[in-house]
Amino acid sequence: MRKKNILNAPFVAEMKKTAANMYRLGWDERNGGNISYMLDEKAVGEYLDLKKVLRVIPLMGVNAANFDIAPLIGKIFIVTGTGKYFKNVEDDPAVNLGVVRIVKDGVELLWGFADGGRPTSELPTHLMSHMARLGVDTLNRVVIHSHPTHTLAMNYVHELDEKKFTHTLWEMCTECIAVFPDGVGILPWMLCGTDSIGKATAEKMKEFRLVVWAMHGIYGAGRTMDEAFGLIETVEKAAQIYMLTAHLPRINTIKDEQMIELAELFKCDYRADFLDLKG
Ligand code: 13P
Ligand code: ZN
Repeated sequence: MRKKNILNAPFVAEMKKTAANMYRLGWDERNGGNISYMLDEKAVGEYLDLKKVLRVIPLMGVNAANFDIAPLIGKIFIVTGTGKYFKNVEDDPAVNLGVVRIVKDGVELLWGFADGGRPTSELPTHLMSHMARLGVDTLNRVVIHSHPTHTLAMNYVHELDEKKFTHTLWEMCTECIAVFPDGVGILPWMLCGTDSIGKATAEKMKEFRLVVWAMHGIYGAGRTMDEAFGLIETVEKAAQIYMLTAHLPRINTIKDEQMIELAELFKCDYRADFLDLKG
């Protein structure tokens, strides 16, 4: 059967739209940030001959012996490329994006990276995060890494304690506790692009859909692009309000009891241990 044009595939459209939004929001300067989206093999088969491998690319920055990729072998992802500018994804997806299938120690390129490029240097962290989230939620499909401005700014002036950081964010917008009731995990500054940061991120991902990389950025995971994007977007909005007000006297705040009321109304399984800071 004749294959459809992959440039018209909905998953390519979602990647283009998300990268463009992230760039225009100022979260992803230059090549900052990366996206990985696990695809349905049948859906990809409508566009690509799945037997046609363009290149085999070894995983970057990873000691394969330390990283068990087995649960993902055969899975297909669309991912952003290393060094690729988010601002360019929309106009040239075939160069800036790639569709890859996971094999032992690397990936098979099925489409994209047309200039000889390769997947994001953070692919190990993405893959480990996918495995961690799939262990919690079999419907998880998307992992996004980004450098959102106010979230990053907040890293420099707020204690990097998961409970305190989450609580402050929850206080900044009424609906924060309903959007990320599971809170925000935090890793200390670590060298990016390595399997160690991947493992540490994945460990946090068992508990949180959002993980801050101190003084670097944030990871968000979800069943859909909207969910992963929306989580980061909501943290960033709360962080922006924090940064707009942190230097001013605080006269009003959202109280813990009010957060509980909202979380209960929305039937959210919230981290009650992240409330009652004085308790
Ligand atoms: P890549 O260009 O390899 O995706 O890296 C960007 C980034 O944000 C590293 O953390
Ligand atoms: Zn980064």
